[in-house]
Amino acid sequence: MTSDYRMDDRQINPGTERRTIEAIEQAIDGEYSAIACYEILFNMAVSDKEKKQIAEIRNDEIHHYQMFSSLYQQLTGRTHAPQITGRCPETYREGLQHAIEDEQKTVDFYMETADRAQNRRVRSLFYRAATDEQQHAVWFLYFYTLNKF
Ligand SMILES: [Fe+2]
Ligand SMILES: [Fe+2]
Repeated sequence: MTSDYRMDDRQINPGTERRTIEAIEQAIDGEYSAIACYEILFNMAVSDKEKKQIAEIRNDEIHHYQMFSSLYQQLTGRTHAPQITGRCPETYREGLQHAIEDEQKTVDFYMETADRAQNRRVRSLFYRAATDEQQHAVWFLYFYTLNKF
């Protein structure tokens, strides 16, 4: 048996590879956009506590971005040039709302991708990232309630 992921996926399910690769591209774009928007959100945050936590969350996204980029390279032999998806909100309130929704949607997307993937490494990386995103959503929701907009 080969250890080549592409071969594994083709042998198990011919449709899996392309769908998984597209999901990783979308994940890379999403993480890249979150890194950009959370820098703006960090600058708008009202307390040191919020700033510190947003910086930690942003570091998680940088880690996810690197992890998905290297996974992509392993699976395809190519690099994916990240695209910014949409614009970052201009106020702290809108930034938090956007972050809560985006994190929740990302949890669903990552869990679905993990459930569908045959490749064990793809599955574990997406499950792990989904757990982080779920935690991020809770932090942002907490900040939203603290600020009583
Ligand atoms: Fe992330
Ligand atoms: Fe996140």
